[in-house]
Amino acid sequence: MTLRPLVADDLDALVALDAATNPHPWSAGLWRDALVRDHGVGLLDDDGQLIGFTVSSRVLDEAELQLIAVSPARQRRGLGRLLLNTLLSELRGDGLARLLLEVRAGNTGAQALYAGCGGDVVGRRKGYYDHGREDALLYTFTLGGDAQ
Ligand SMILES: CC(C)(COP(=O)(O)OP(=O)(O)OC[C@H]1O[C@@H](n2cnc3c(N)ncnc32)[C@H](O)[C@@H]1OP(=O)(O)O)[C@@H](O)C(=O)NCCC(=O)NCCS
Repeated sequence: MTLRPLVADDLDALVALDAATNPHPWSAGLWRDALVRDHGVGLLDDDGQLIGFTVSSRVLDEAELQLIAVSPARQRRGLGRLLLNTLLSELRGDGLARLLLEVRAGNTGAQALYAGCGGDVVGRRKGYYDHGREDALLYTFTLGGDAQ
């Protein structure tokens, strides 16, 4: 199993994995944009099969996690934790101060992952998802760096 950056040949598999794990998947165009603009996409590859990914961005000393997903058939085997811990180590190594993310209030599985990896709930955005129907919880991971 390897963690590696996104290349053009991954786009179809990435669109399919996003569609299988995300209630509001990105369009193929958005994924193509992420490739062209070199957005922070990290892939988990098992012998040529895409089984997980993270998408994150950085501004000054803060990073934001936009997406994290593991193939439904491979969930609950520690792969989400591997992806998140790998990202946290990279950000820490680059001296960033914190990682932020928003998660649906009803997504208790992802919240358990975040809490287990050291995330703290620091806010709640009322009605943030689905035109007011679901709140977002805001998580912060303190990394300790001071990159500018
Ligand atoms: C969230 C997600 C990435 C977790 O990936 P995963 O590989 O299944 O997670 P892991 O196996 O590494 O789980 C690590 C820990 O997180 C918690 N956890 C993960 N999924 C859970 C679930 N469905 N229910 C309860 N706890 C869960 C557990 O504490 C777990 O440890 P344990 O298995 O030893 O009990 C995966 O469920 C997924 O892709 N979901 C759909 C996309 C999504 O919701 N992304 C987050 C919002 S962008």
